[in-house]
Parts: sequence; C-alpha cells; structure tokens
Amino acid sequence: MVGYVIYGRGSFNQLDEIIAPQRKDGRPMVFLVDHFFSAAYSGDGKPLVNRMPVRGNDKIIFADVTFEPKTTYVDKLAQELKDEFGTVSGIIGIGGGSTMDLAKAVSLMMNNPGSSADYQGWDLVKQPGVYKAGIPTLSGTGAEVSRTTVLTGPTKKLGMNSDFTPFDQIVLDPELTANAPANQRFYTGMDCYIHCIESLTGTYLNEFSKSYGEKALLLCRDVFINKDRWDDDCDDKLMMASYAGGMSIAYSQVGVAHAVSYGLSYLLGTKHGIGNCMVMNQLEEYYPEGAAEFKWMVEKNNIEIPAGICNGLSEEQFDTMINVSIGMKPLWENALGKDWEKIMTREKLRALYEKL
Ligand SMILES: NC(=O)c1ccc[n+]([C@@H]2O[C@H](COP(=O)([O-])OP(=O)(O)OC[C@H]3O[C@@H](n4cnc5c(N)ncnc54)[C@H](O)[C@@H]3O)[C@@H](O)[C@H]2O)c1
Ligand SMILES: [Fe+2]
Repeated sequence: MVGYVIYGRGSFNQLDEIIAPQRKDGRPMVFLVDHFFSAAYSGDGKPLVNRMPVRGNDKIIFADVTFEPKTTYVDKLAQELKDEFGTVSGIIGIGGGSTMDLAKAVSLMMNNPGSSADYQGWDLVKQPGVYKAGIPTLSGTGAEVSRTTVLTGPTKKLGMNSDFTPFDQIVLDPELTANAPANQRFYTGMDCYIHCIESLTGTYLNEFSKSYGEKALLLCRDVFINKDRWDDDCDDKLMMASYAGGMSIAYSQVGVAHAVSYGLSYLLGTKHGIGNCMVMNQLEEYYPEGAAEFKWMVEKNNIEIPAGICNGLSEEQFDTMINVSIGMKPLWENALGKDWEKIMTREKLRALYEKL
C-alpha cells in the first residue's frame, strides 16, 4: 500500500515540506510532470510549473504522454537520470494515470538492472526503487494507489506488479483536476466507475473490495448522475472515488471491459479510458445494470463515445486482439467464473470486437 496519503484542496502547497526529509545530499528530486502543463504543449505553460518546490539541482522533466507509457520510454528516462546524476533523491510524478505510471516505473528502474520489459508480470521486481510520490491531475485510474504500472513492451501490455510498485507518498489535491476537458474527465472518471462495476459483480469479490467499491460507486453516481453542473465538489468527490475504486481492485480484479479494451489498446493504441468506454457501451450481456447506467451517464453528460473502431480490420488483426484479450485470464475468471473459457469463446469475443 501507499505509505503516506495527504488529501485536501491546496495540499499541493505542502509538497516542499513533504519531500524535504527525503532529500539526500547532492541528489536531485526529479519532477516528472504531464506535458499538459508545459509551455511547449499549452502555449504559455501552466502556473502549476511555477509552484514546484524546485531546489538545488532538482530537475523538471515533462512526460510525453501522447502515447500510453512504453517500456522503451521508461528505460530512456531512467538511463538519462543515471547518466546525469548517478542516482536521485526521488521521483515526483504529477499528472494523469500515464504520468503516474511512468514515475513509478522510472523510480523502480533507478535501482533494478536491465529493462523495465524484464519486469512486466507479477512480483518480478526485486529491489525497491528510489523514493516516489504521486500527484494526480486527473481522477479515475486509481494509479495513485495501485501496485502496478501499466506498460506496453515489445511483446505485451502488462504492468510491473510488485510490492515495490506503490508510491511512498501521494498528494491528493482536487484543485489540480479543475478545468480538465469534460470529455477527458468523463473517460478517466468512467475508468473508476467501470472498476467498481467489474469488482462488485466479480467472482473475486470480498468484503475489503466491496467496502471500497460500494463507496466509490456512490461517489461516481453523485458526480455523473446526481449533479447537474460540474463544480469543486465534483472534483473533490471524483478524486476520492478514484482512490477508493483503486483500493477496491487491489484485492479483486477488473473484468470484461478491461480485458477487451486491453486488446484494442495493444493493437490500435486506443487509450485506456476511452477504450473502456467504447467496450462498456456494448456490455449489456455481462453487466446489464452497469451498462444501462453507463449509457445514461453518457447521455446526461453529453459525451461522445466513438464507434466503428474495428471496421475494416483484417483477420490477423482480430486474432491479435483476441489473443491479447483471452490472455488476461484472471480478468475473465473474475468476470465469468472458473468455467469462463466455455462462456467466452474466441467466436464470441470476435463478435464483440466487431460491434465496437
Ligand atoms: N497503474 C494503474 O493501476 C492504472 C490503472 C488504470 C489505468 N492506468 C493507466 O493510466 C493511463 C490513463 O490515465 P488517464 O486516463 O489519467 O489519462 P492520461 O494520463 O493518459 O492523460 C490523458 C490526457 O490528459 C492530459 N491531462 C492530464 N491532466 C490534465 C488536466 N488536469 N487537465 C487537462 N488535461 C490533462 C494528458 O496530458 C493527456 O493528454 C493509461 O496509461 C493506463 O494504462 C494505470
Ligand atoms: Fe482501468
């Protein structure tokens, strides 16, 4: 689990104090910041950058999250830091799920040999990374609390799942998510909603997961159903929903939407949040209540869910997606039970992909 958690509007202002005890003589803190906050990306830059507690030889690196994190990018960032500094005091990841995952992975690769691709799997990481803190600027993925960092490698899209992966510290400041574009906020927020549906209806469910999942679901409904207008309260609630939703899957698993959307993202580079939404839109058979409620939220919030993404794909491409998806065994088992292979055949999965 995450070592330390701080929550509250304006809590970002305490970052200097929070990281001070972690500073090691002469070694910099590295702020890995979502490129959304850079001048190059958004014109004159965002004021958040001027609020970073930069001291001495600290470094700000803007994370390019045009594509979701790749092992090659993680390796490059870690190697550059090793070449420049030998080692660093810590990595502070500030951004959406992609930037937080990059920060976790780079921290681990500062102290583990080889390539991050060598550690895609379960409990393959042997050494703790350097100190790492996570500060979300989008709410929903639960990457701030999870024990994984999802990476696309040469042969698979799979996380570095390990006891060393969670952040040492997270700073949950809902002010940082204000002004995110409505579509992006919805796609990432739905990642959390879908985590709840998949966890609460799954066969792996237990009281730990249920306790967090039920609360996260209520918060999602408050934000996307009960409210008529986005306000600060929505940012506050969605940030806690993301946290609780992440805690819920920590002791259970995700399900059909994630298993299918992983195939899309592997083949087509479809982003996690939007990919999950495209799939959830077609999952009445597996999550009748969740899919219906999801559609209502799409309508109520005036969101566009793209369709037709699999039109014109070749046999080979369908096969690739099906292979990636069917390979996510624990997700299917959680969703459909021990006999899932009898229920979700390749033909059925193919038909589902064709609907997207
Ligand atoms: N580790 C985990 O447990 C876990 C769980 C779920 C998803 N993920 C990963 O998280 C990623 C998806 O994360 P995400 O949905 O947060 O999106 P993201 O991090 O990919 O960011 C999406 C876009 O929003 C921009 N952005 C970030 N903050 C913003 C802000 N405040 N205002 C406006 N734009 C902003 C980014 O620059 C980017 O263009 C995927 O890579 C996925 O694999 C990880
Ligand atoms: Fe997710």
